[in-house]
Amino acid sequence: MNSLYSFVTCAALLSINPAVAHVSHDHSIVNQIPLGYVKYPYQATYPGDNEVTADSVFSGITTFARLPWVQCLSKQSEETFDIAFIGAPFDTGTSYRPGARFGPSGIRAGSRRLTLYGGYNVPLEVNPFKSGLKIVDCGDIPVTPYDNAFAIKQIENGHKSLLQRPAFSPLGNDSVTGEPLVPISKDGKHHPRIITLGGDHTVVLPILRSIYSAYGAISVIHFDSHLDTWKPSVFGGSPSDQAAINHGTYFYWASQEGLIANGSSIHGAIRTTLSGPADYLNDDDSGFQRIEAREIDTLGVAGIIKKVRDVVGDKPVYLSIDIDSIDPAFAPATGTPETGGWSTRELRAIIRGLDGLHIVSADIVEVAPAYDTNAELTTMAAADLLFEVMSVMAKTPLGKVAVRAV
Ligand SMILES: *[C@@H]1O[C@H](CO)[C@@H](O)[C@H](O)[C@H]1NC(C)=O
Ligand SMILES: *[C@@H]1O[C@H](CO)[C@@H](O)[C@H](O)[C@H]1NC(C)=O
Repeated sequence: MNSLYSFVTCAALLSINPAVAHVSHDHSIVNQIPLGYVKYPYQATYPGDNEVTADSVFSGITTFARLPWVQCLSKQSEETFDIAFIGAPFDTGTSYRPGARFGPSGIRAGSRRLTLYGGYNVPLEVNPFKSGLKIVDCGDIPVTPYDNAFAIKQIENGHKSLLQRPAFSPLGNDSVTGEPLVPISKDGKHHPRIITLGGDHTVVLPILRSIYSAYGAISVIHFDSHLDTWKPSVFGGSPSDQAAINHGTYFYWASQEGLIANGSSIHGAIRTTLSGPADYLNDDDSGFQRIEAREIDTLGVAGIIKKVRDVVGDKPVYLSIDIDSIDPAFAPATGTPETGGWSTRELRAIIRGLDGLHIVSADIVEVAPAYDTNAELTTMAAADLLFEVMSVMAKTPLGKVAVRAV
């Protein structure tokens, strides 16, 4: 796996500007040690490696990966950060099993052990918790369970309020040329990155509206067993305007609104049955390319990574992970399970293969803990996927070297 992975990473990096791929952050700016939170409520009595091993990860108040909790969405808060976790506990756009409103709390519970040994990611050779970035858990966006239109607006406003703050750390300089980096956003500002804990997949429509405010139409990498570009008449029958916006149609609406970059967006792990072959034509129109779940048998993990990277290149990209991209054997607790999916190991490797891409924000959705096993398989898988996402983010700043006029 190691040699295969190195090959993929090297080959893939060649296809993007090597100057922007790996830039170290300025460690003198902030030496954030969220691991200090691990010591709550007791100080370690027998120091281990960095004093992290002595504490009980099963005690204390649960935040994502035991990161510091900040009330980012209070009226007074002007808290800044580089990466913020935020919950979107909305599940009234679900067609089959409801329960993803408990996703944020479930994923946080599944993430408790992420910092047990300190959080160093061996294959990616980075510790996101000690990368110099300020990473916080902002809690949940208040979401009404009684009115979908209102809830969707709440999610957009909550997300935008975080995204539109200045990032805590400066972009720094390019590690190769030493030249200052400039933001890759459309509005020219250096935005923080938001990682949303869903929630059913409908939440991605308001999130993409928020992302548009900073980046314009965005390339999307979407791991899911379903297309989610269905026309409302096909998915749900559209008995009302509000019913037309649900977890199978939100990408259709996002595409109609011009939020998705046409031609540089891609689905992975697709394996749902269809209303007919025309669903794929409709999906083409929405701007997506597709990787079927079964292609893992022919292309392997490396081939799937290559397909994704070829489509996205070095463009700003939004990453949306439906937990049902993983096989229900590994992640049973989800809204619309489909057998024949990828393993947790395979999807983790595929996400690590996104190393070097400009992932501007991300989510994991459709985790419905009530259907999990007692062993918390699904919430652990979700947390570990996000550990790979934050590791990839920590390695690549959202900047590029300015092109000078000659
Ligand atoms: C980045 O480059 C600028 C000038 O281009 C320089 O003034 C600054 O010290 C550099 N910062 C670091 C952290 O090297
Ligand atoms: C995306 O591009 C394809 C091919 O050019 C086109 O058929 C489709 O209508 C476009 N979709 C949108 C939403 O612009």
